[in-house]
Formats: sequence, C-alpha cells, structure tokens
Amino acid sequence: MAKAKVVSLLNMKGGVGKTTCAVNLATYLARDHGKRVLLVDFDSQTNASLSLMPETAWEKWADKHGTMADVLEARGKKRQGEPAALADCIIHNVLPEVPGLDLIPSHLALTFIDLDLAARPGRERIVSRKLAKVIGNYDVILCDCPPNLMTATQNALYASDAYLIPMQPDYLSTLGLNLLQDRLTYLKRELEFKITCLGVVFTRVRGWLRYHAETMERLRTAKDFKRIHFFETVIPENIKLAEAPMEAKPIELHDSTASGAEAYRALTKEFVARLG
Ligand SMILES: Nc1ncnc2c1ncn2[C@@H]1O[C@H](COP(=O)(O)OP(=O)(O)OP(=O)(O)O)[C@@H](O)[C@H]1O
Ligand SMILES: [Mg+2]
Repeated sequence: MAKAKVVSLLNMKGGVGKTTCAVNLATYLARDHGKRVLLVDFDSQTNASLSLMPETAWEKWADKHGTMADVLEARGKKRQGEPAALADCIIHNVLPEVPGLDLIPSHLALTFIDLDLAARPGRERIVSRKLAKVIGNYDVILCDCPPNLMTATQNALYASDAYLIPMQPDYLSTLGLNLLQDRLTYLKRELEFKITCLGVVFTRVRGWLRYHAETMERLRTAKDFKRIHFFETVIPENIKLAEAPMEAKPIELHDSTASGAEAYRALTKEFVARLG
C-alpha cells in the first residue's frame, strides 16, 4: 500500500491560523476528496484536538487510550498500565459526519517535553519511527505544530515530506518568513532530513485592507521569495472560523455557506493538486 504524504503546518508566529488550517484541510481532504487522513496534534495547547471533539470526550480518551504525550513519552503524563503505542492513540473517524478523518489528540503534558527529553538521544526521531507502523493506512497525514521549532515540532518535521506555512499578510510576518527558512535550513543540515516547502497560504486576510493586498502582492513578487510557492487561494478573516471550535466542529459542519468554508474548500483542491 502506498505511503501517506506527511505535511506539517508550520510558522513560528502564534495565532496565524495554523490549527484552523490543519483542522479544515484535514476535514475537506477526507470529505470532498475521499482521502484517508490522520491529523496529529503536536501542540500542548490541544487546539486542534478540541476543535474536533468536546473537552469531556477528550479527557476520557486521554485517560483511557493516550495522546501525543504518550507517543512522545512525556513524563508528566501518567496513564495507567503500559505505555500506549501510537496506533492505540488514534481516534478513528473522530467526526461521524466525516468518515476517513482520524485524530491523534494532544495533551497539556507536552508543555515540558523539551525538558523531559533533554537527555534522550534521537529525541527528534521518536514520532517518525512510531508513525512508520501506520503510515500505510493513510493518504495524507497532517501535523499541527506549536508556534516554535522545539522538540515536538522537530519530531513533526523529521517525519514530514513537506511543510505548509499559514501566514498573515503583515510586515512582521514577512520578517518571520525569512527567519523560518533560515532555521529550517539549519535543522535540515543538523538533523539530516529532507523536507520540501509546499508553500505559503495567506490567512486571516481582511479584503477591505489595502495594506493586506499590498503586502501579499509584495511577497508574491519579491526576489527573496521567488523560490517559494504562494497559494492562489487566500483565507479571509471570517468569524465563523473562530466560532466553529466552540461546537468542536470544522467550518463545514458549523456553517458550510460561510466565506471561510468556501475558502478552505478551494484551498484543499489546490493543496491536493500541489501534493500530486
Ligand atoms: N480566518 C480566520 N478568521 C477569523 N478567525 C480566525 C481565522 N483563522 C483563525 N482564526 C482564529 O484565530 C485564533 C488563532 O487561530 P489558530 O489557533 O488557528 O492559530 P495558530 O497559528 O494555530 O495559533 P498557535 O500559534 O497559538 O497555535 C483562533 O481563535 C481561531 O479561531
Ligand atoms: Mg495552533
């Protein structure tokens, strides 16, 4: 069976829409494109997990089965019994309305994973090794990363074929893009892995702001970034995208007519074409 393409959603900047992008891309990949999708929540904030399941259900799952904290062997997370295998932490068909979408939830205990694993050799390869056992069961695996390049993110990157950068079109984010590319070059060299950049997706775009339009145009045509692909679809600022997680639902199940839903449907089509 063909091996899944593994893609990390990455940006060192916080609050740019990485998680929103991961959750909705994962949903549309399964729902509209018939892909077998696994969404892996690498962020101790557990935002992706709680965007797809109510907190009570998440708590029960974490106690009984396990989360990324178990996969990464975080110390603060005490489950009863044996350490959980990665496959045991997968919630199959996390939304009954979207067959084919699986989730490995995260846990707060990942907060101190950098300390927990500080002395462990090969700590950035743990997930890659464990994921190998289930990779044949999926077409696409999406990794929702925290806004840093520490141990959890390094695990995601090491396991990934590609990364996607959700980015807000503003000046400081522009600076961040250079920094991110720089740091990735360093990580790739030091940890010896290969990864390709799928491109930048502009998020939280306020269509009425000339500043946003100008920044996007400047980046798309900048010499510095001519090797970076910029997705044509842009994600508008749309309050429905912020409301949906309150119901533990992706935008499609919250309000399929919202501009945010339309944008993520279009982005998913582009994403599938680009992934090949
Ligand atoms: N296009 C959008 N329109 C309106 N609100 C949005 C949009 N995208 C994301 N949001 C909201 O903005 C906040 C930050 O988004 P999100 O959590 O996806 O960002 P993030 O990059 O994953 O953040 P972090 O770096 O903390 O992980 C959330 O409350 C989310 O619901
Ligand atoms: Mg996030």
